[in-house]
Amino acid sequence: MSVTEARVEKIGTDEATGYSSYRFGSFTFSRDEYFAHVSWPRGNHIIEIDRFLRAMVRDIGWGFFYGWIFFDDIFGTTNHYGTVDVFAGTYDRGCKEAGIDFLETYSAEAVSEAFETISKDWISEGYDPLNAPLETGSPIGPKGKERTDPLLRSFIAADRMLGLPGDKSVRTEEDGFGINRAFADMEFDQPDIECEPGFEGQLHAINLFDHIARSDITWNPSISAITRANICCVTSEEHMLPVIHGNDRNEWFIQLTDEIHWNIADKNSGAPRGRVVMKAGDVCAMPADIRHQGFAPKRSMLMVMENGTPGLEQRYASGELKPYPVKFEA
Ligand code: PHB
Ligand code: FE
Repeated sequence: MSVTEARVEKIGTDEATGYSSYRFGSFTFSRDEYFAHVSWPRGNHIIEIDRFLRAMVRDIGWGFFYGWIFFDDIFGTTNHYGTVDVFAGTYDRGCKEAGIDFLETYSAEAVSEAFETISKDWISEGYDPLNAPLETGSPIGPKGKERTDPLLRSFIAADRMLGLPGDKSVRTEEDGFGINRAFADMEFDQPDIECEPGFEGQLHAINLFDHIARSDITWNPSISAITRANICCVTSEEHMLPVIHGNDRNEWFIQLTDEIHWNIADKNSGAPRGRVVMKAGDVCAMPADIRHQGFAPKRSMLMVMENGTPGLEQRYASGELKPYPVKFEA
């Protein structure tokens, strides 16, 4: 794999809208009031701007995640953990057959810098792509006032057991995190903690539902527990996952409340492989050879378990490991 040395460059600013265009390697990126335009040596593509920005800030915040992040069927990134492919049409049968697919590999740091520069320029005050569409403004129209709050809230990692002194990640009323409107009918009993003398400050318990119900963002798993490479994330979901995730390993979903509909397709061609409707209490493993996208008609709570073992992607890609975690014998 050859790595292209490239840094993002501004190539102009549109006087009518105020937005700038950028070159990054062989790609160029520009936006108008409604759309992002991406072009590369053999083709070009148009993506609705809300969709583009909601995908882009997550891709940066997640450090390009595990494997593939499709912004839509055509454009996206693949994480090689140090380097990142930016691709267009590489995993779309029509583009491949037409010979207009294109892929370039860069350092992860250069892609982060490029995507951050673009999203900072294209996002104005009043619109937060991490919020549910019903809870934020719209990105359409000309450039507005620059946002001053942090654009990227990435994976929010706990410093220690949620709620113990020193942890700042648990969400509380005092910190301005109210219970989301969708969870107003739930009860949030707090656990009783009886600690042996001498262990104060080391033992703790929280109501995890209370923590998730206070999330002001969606489709952004935050790490709530980690044991070596075993990563447990929780997230609140509403509307659609703004990316299509192509796995390079298994990941597990535990549906904690309400329901999420998942479209599952072949990772390479996008051919449909299944639909899963997960209801509260359901558990599923997403195989290592698929792409998937979730749809939550109503805000719901999801737990995502990831295996962060370095090099696992190569063991799946080589066929050493089967793409699914369990084989059920009939
Ligand atoms: C996933 O791609 O597996 C994923 C991403 C974000 C979420 C939930 C699941 O909030
Ligand atoms: Fe996924």
